[in-house]
Amino acid sequence: MKTAKRTGPASRPSGGRGAAGIDVRPSGEGAGAEVAGVDLSAPLPDDVFAEIDRALAHHGVLVFQDQGLSPERQLSFCERFGPIEVNAFDQYALPGHPGVLVVSNIVEDGRNIGYADAGSHWHTDMSYTTTPPRCTALHAIEVPSAGGRNLGDTLFANARAAFEALDEADRRRIEGLRAVHRFSAKERGVKRPVKLTPEQIARHPDVVHPVARTHPVSGAKALYVREGECVGIEGMPDEEAVALIKRLSDHIIRPEFRYRHRWRVGDLVIWDNCTVQHIALRDYEWPQRRLMHRVTAGGSVPF
Ligand code: SIN
Repeated sequence: MKTAKRTGPASRPSGGRGAAGIDVRPSGEGAGAEVAGVDLSAPLPDDVFAEIDRALAHHGVLVFQDQGLSPERQLSFCERFGPIEVNAFDQYALPGHPGVLVVSNIVEDGRNIGYADAGSHWHTDMSYTTTPPRCTALHAIEVPSAGGRNLGDTLFANARAAFEALDEADRRRIEGLRAVHRFSAKERGVKRPVKLTPEQIARHPDVVHPVARTHPVSGAKALYVREGECVGIEGMPDEEAVALIKRLSDHIIRPEFRYRHRWRVGDLVIWDNCTVQHIALRDYEWPQRRLMHRVTAGGSVPF
């Protein structure tokens, strides 16, 4: 692997207003952009959606501030990217909305109202399925804070920039390789894992995906492998595979490829699971409250 090559915003188009009039402002970090001038609570014209779709593929993470969004509207927006996926942790679905996962540490009547530790390790969403979702949209309803500072940030890592920074030898080495993604690997290396039921495990047999995948919209390649989710590489001895998975995983989360999202109430953040990986920081504790509505959509077979 080469040492830090700048592949973040400096080498990408600078954003700005597109033909449909939306204003895309790159974060200045390793991924991500803020989108201004869009009200997601109203249906989007096709040209506006097309620009958002392209911006998402390019920047990996898009932030829409001050969105007063009902679960229905969040679902309709996400459906533009493809069918809504129902999450494996369906015990935390929003009542009446199986497509909305409640991500929350809030305890009511002695039980968590949502999935408290969602995303507490680096991952790309639902890579343990045959058709992982292209995008995930998280809507911030309550954000924990202390001493005037919001907590519970989400970090993103640009796996396309990480692929582009690989040297020729590494690109050749991973060409054609396919990694084994295991649902139950989630139980390892996580501080407070949700106990998986035998039915949940049975519903999710191992799947294999390319170590470097091609983006279905932009055609760009990105690394698609993660320590803790991937347990091997087809046709490679385990020891060698685990070492390669770890080396690539460490490379993806290098500081220069990262974007840190500091949540505000009303943010709708959508990310492209073909391009970025993410982790949610657990630097807050109940009774500090965090409540998010999460929708995933647009699954396809990685190639
Ligand atoms: C997730 O991984 O889906 C949750 C991310 C977050 O809660 O910030």
